[in-house]
Amino acid sequence: MTNSPNSPSDSTRRVTRRTVVGAGLALATGLSGGGYVARRYLGADGSDNPRSILDGEQSYPEPEYGNPDRKHHLTVTRGEIEVAPSETIETWLYDGQYPGPELRVREGERVRITVHNELSAETTIHWHGMRQFGSNAMDGVPGITQPAIGPDEEFVYEFDAAPTGTHWYHSHVGFQLERGLLGPLIVEEDEPHVEYDRDHMVILDEYLTSEPAVRSVDRGMMGSFPGSPEYDGTLVNGKLPSDPHVVSVEAGERIRLRFLNAGSATTYRVSIGGHAMQITHADGQAVEPVTVDTFDIGMGERFDAVIEANRSGRWEIRAHPLDDRMPAGRAVLRYNGSTADDPRYESVGMRQLEYGDLTAVSPLDRIDGTPDRRIDLNLSTGGMMGDSDEWTINGQAYPNVDPIRIKEGEHVRLHVVNHSPMRHPMHLHGHHFVVDGALQDTVTVPGHMGQQTLDFVADNPGDWFFHCHNSYHMETGMIQLFEYK
Ligand code: C2O
Ligand code: CU
Repeated sequence: MTNSPNSPSDSTRRVTRRTVVGAGLALATGLSGGGYVARRYLGADGSDNPRSILDGEQSYPEPEYGNPDRKHHLTVTRGEIEVAPSETIETWLYDGQYPGPELRVREGERVRITVHNELSAETTIHWHGMRQFGSNAMDGVPGITQPAIGPDEEFVYEFDAAPTGTHWYHSHVGFQLERGLLGPLIVEEDEPHVEYDRDHMVILDEYLTSEPAVRSVDRGMMGSFPGSPEYDGTLVNGKLPSDPHVVSVEAGERIRLRFLNAGSATTYRVSIGGHAMQITHADGQAVEPVTVDTFDIGMGERFDAVIEANRSGRWEIRAHPLDDRMPAGRAVLRYNGSTADDPRYESVGMRQLEYGDLTAVSPLDRIDGTPDRRIDLNLSTGGMMGDSDEWTINGQAYPNVDPIRIKEGEHVRLHVVNHSPMRHPMHLHGHHFVVDGALQDTVTVPGHMGQQTLDFVADNPGDWFFHCHNSYHMETGMIQLFEYK
């Protein structure tokens, strides 16, 4: 039933099949295979769904350290943040900030980040967008690439900052991302393919004043499935619309806005009053510039947009939740010297970005042609019909999954079909895949039989997560694992 890491016939780690029992209980199952013990953890505050942590007698990839060009230190704590003048909330933070500090490094650098955990719960950090080429041990997946970092413990992450672009970091444990454990990670290009004068991060997230916990969402004839709690609003760079974050520009400038959807359950539609946007990067990767008026951004995705500052005043940068469950978020684009009061919103047009509009700037030579392996992945809820408390990939809910074995050097094609009515932003660790003509690490698969074809080359041996970036889908099972040596 389980594989022991020591078993000669199969040294690959395997997720244990086991029965799920009440949260918070440590349990041992399937010892027949040689003593693998899976445990469930409950966050110390008693509220974190623990499904994302597996631990036990694992063999983890060996961390390797070298000579970093840059060092950072991050402390994980609890603390208070102010989302509007009279509104503060206690949450979990990196270096006392939400979003966490902007880590900015240059192309080609090796970075070392020491993470000190001052929470009473276990944590890890995943560097979303980093290839971790040859550094599976730094991927931050508890129970797979490292043991979780315990209270008062430290873990030293070190990796090559590649590829360039707009990336981010976040906890990979339970609902800690939803609690605010996230921040931007920017790898600056030596020679960007577009011209701009300045750049600025714009981070979208839901505002949740209650504890993050799975809620059963009733979909009438479609049964019920696990989903997110009711949100209280939208934060842009940590601010509610009543006290928006301001991006100052000088007339005549070109500004590169780096959009990140760090939300846990919401796809946002982004637009800027009075300004068209030139989309220049998707998930950090350079694309041929395409001019649009709006784009949708799923959880985990990044789009960079260059704006020509040619209409003075104060303008709204709007993030509208596609499911209309809570008010839109906003930031303000403010021209220096402008005396306008309220930010204006004036829609500019109807051009909406589609994945098919994106074309990678660098050639994708190794991913062309016929795949060596084709894998069908069906996304759905646990039950064929009716009520379910799980989200599944090919009918399996993590951690009760049979990992997918691939081989080094293969060109793998994933054909993902969404049998559910909900969108699923699917993220692959350790690789970028081709979607239409662009290289991405996260792609939203639309609901109601929406499909995506993702091609990648298996050039980075290790154990890599593939999961939905909706925290509530992920925590109820929508995770698979690719393994190769
Ligand atoms: Cu940004 Cu496995 O996630
Ligand atoms: Cu999902």
